[in-house]
Amino acid sequence: MIGCGYLGAVHAAALASLGHDVIGVDSDGDKIALLETGAAPFFEPGLEPLLVQGLASGRLRFRRRLEEAAAAEVHFVTVGTPQRPDGSADLSAVEAVVAGLAGVIRTGALVVGKSTVPVGTAARLADVIVAAGGRLAWNPEFLREGLAVQDSLHPDRLVYGLAEGDASSEEVLDAVYAEVLREGMPKVVTDLATAELVKVSANAFLATKISFINAMAEIAEATGADVTQLADAIGVDARIGRRFLGAGVGFGGGCLPKDIRGFVARAEELGTGRSVAFLREIDAINLRRRERVVELARESLGGSLAGRRIAALGLAFKPDSDDVRDSPALAVAGMLADAGARVVAHDPAAVDTARLRRPDLDYTRDLGQALVGAEAVVVLTEWGSYRELDPTEAGSVVAGRRLVDARNCLDREAWAAAGWEVRSPGRPARLPLVARAG
Ligand code: UGA
Repeated sequence: MIGCGYLGAVHAAALASLGHDVIGVDSDGDKIALLETGAAPFFEPGLEPLLVQGLASGRLRFRRRLEEAAAAEVHFVTVGTPQRPDGSADLSAVEAVVAGLAGVIRTGALVVGKSTVPVGTAARLADVIVAAGGRLAWNPEFLREGLAVQDSLHPDRLVYGLAEGDASSEEVLDAVYAEVLREGMPKVVTDLATAELVKVSANAFLATKISFINAMAEIAEATGADVTQLADAIGVDARIGRRFLGAGVGFGGGCLPKDIRGFVARAEELGTGRSVAFLREIDAINLRRRERVVELARESLGGSLAGRRIAALGLAFKPDSDDVRDSPALAVAGMLADAGARVVAHDPAAVDTARLRRPDLDYTRDLGQALVGAEAVVVLTEWGSYRELDPTEAGSVVAGRRLVDARNCLDREAWAAAGWEVRSPGRPARLPLVARAG
């Protein structure tokens, strides 16, 4: 497994638990040192027990140099493809790994790409591997952060992209995934380009679904309608489905934002930019939602943020993760601070990763401390510990019972009943029930 980030570390541990001999390779010595002790370099529920079990069985090892994995029959490429300033994908890590593998692999070895790449990349890399006596296939990954272990061990589909005339790689991949295939999930065997496109179009579709409901939130805000009830009502239709219709502060993370931008850049290169031009609008709707949440906080504080004490609850791009890459939560906490608010930011897992990106913000790991004296509370990530907050108890320590539920994840009736003024994207304000009664 070449590359031990979110994707590679989880996949390495998962394949070892399925009975394979796995060597995880990463040039980052600190990461390898951690993994060798069974510690995960990032927050991912269930990963550490799987690492510990793999290391103890002797089937899982971690190494720094590619050469140490030269004898493998199958090499997975799981390095990152970050976004370049112009939106396109930076393929330098993938290209370096493939060039490195070409110098060390055994004749007949199978190289399997898992990284998310622009369509057309695999065919180009296949030439390099074939010239070195190997074969190349593309096997995109659909795991979600926070659920990565479960998704790796029980994926909902397997996609194999094979080069033209490659009659043997399917069998090798079937042997790798034998345990998983026994569960009977769909397997799609296709060409390299389709496999690359399956990955990026799946993420583009998910991003579109989220931005669609967030666009409806904008309409709801202009008309007094309620986007959550709207999502419930349209989501009942099985053709639409309720999942990924959660309106709020929008999507973030290391995948959806980067992948839609990379898709647009690649389509433009191919002369088909118009086909995915709508993804620019998807991106724009998504980014507008961050501004809307800042506006809701400003409104709730009577029009000005300057000098006001705000508890920002959540920094990770989603719960059960410490990932703050392109996180709407961290972005909003930063925007509030930039507008002059005195922000105290809390997250159960992502304080350290957030601090690296925004060292200037005030952070706390103590939820109570974030709430004490706050004039407004803004919930930015739907962690369970926020959903479980008792509105009466929280109300007794804040300086003002003003809540912005940027994820539409709290029981707004219960908060209003405890005297809070609740604002949320796409929904009419909920005034305190006590005030309404009075
Ligand atoms: C996403 C895909 O869901 C995975 O299938 C894919 O493998 C992965 O990218 C990848 O390319 O590696 P992930 O980035 O872990 O997974 O996160 P998601 O669960 O898709 O959530 C993405 C963002 O959308 C989060 O910020 C989340 O809060 C937001 N979201 C999700 C909403 O705003 N509303 C929703 O209804 C659902």
